[in-house]
Amino acid sequence: MAAEVIDGKAFAADLRARIATHVAKLKDEHGITPGLAVVLVGEDPASQVYVRSKGKQTLEAGMASFEHKLPAETTEAELLAKVRELNADPEVHGILVQLPLPGHLDSDLVINAIDPKKDVDGFHISNVGLLATGQKSLVPCTPLGCLMMLKAHHGSLSGMEAVVIGRSNIVGKPMAQLLLGESCTVTIAHSRTKDLAEVVSRADIVIAAVGRPEMVPGDWIKPGATVIDVGINRVAKADGEGHRLVGDVDYASAAEVAGAITPVPGGVGPMTIACLLSNTLTACCRARGLPEPAL
Ligand code: GUN
Repeated sequence: MAAEVIDGKAFAADLRARIATHVAKLKDEHGITPGLAVVLVGEDPASQVYVRSKGKQTLEAGMASFEHKLPAETTEAELLAKVRELNADPEVHGILVQLPLPGHLDSDLVINAIDPKKDVDGFHISNVGLLATGQKSLVPCTPLGCLMMLKAHHGSLSGMEAVVIGRSNIVGKPMAQLLLGESCTVTIAHSRTKDLAEVVSRADIVIAAVGRPEMVPGDWIKPGATVIDVGINRVAKADGEGHRLVGDVDYASAAEVAGAITPVPGGVGPMTIACLLSNTLTACCRARGLPEPAL
């Protein structure tokens, strides 16, 4: 039987609508406008597209958007000064420094200079530690979006076998922590994992986040499993005319075996920015001592 398609685009639109309603209420009742500052250093084309999209969706949700575009030659001291300025700005509730940074800048140093309470990416070491110890934190957006879709689909995830393929700080590691927090039995697989096919075939939930086009074939998937494909890979079309986007999972073969699957595009991708807006709203409510929205 063909898998149910988990429509991340519709899910994200619904989440953004709920956020916008809450933002309007914050303005009406408290005169507060949540604000998100995005810092982009250099001119990486993919980053420029993401930053534009973040700015547009921030405004559409009724929030304030502050874009800071700095030249590629920006020094570490200049970037740190910008981060400190945003930390001190009461109109800014969330700060995101777009990654990757140019090679001469130390991203760990820059991220850890962000006020953890404004770290809407959830990358600051204190947010990483809070998540790992099950305390209230700001959670990285892509894994948060994956978890929301999984919980909406399954309800409880307790006792399920989850395999996360990929061990990045942005997706793999925080995803594993979130699934552990939901009482899954979690395996993190990666490029050195010995029999990846065997590991994946045990999973009730597969999260593919490796950045390798269509590397997970359908015959690795346990029948009925839920497959969340985080990959967004540009590959040349077979006829050589332009490109198409594919995930880390071979969608056609996986969709024949899985119980549910996210498509690429239109699966996890749209949820990432929606969760960024959700984190900004959460950070704003916490900063102002207001109840956090139950989104
Ligand atoms: N570059 C690619 N994904 C992300 C993300 O989630 N946050 C930031 N800051 N940069 C990114």
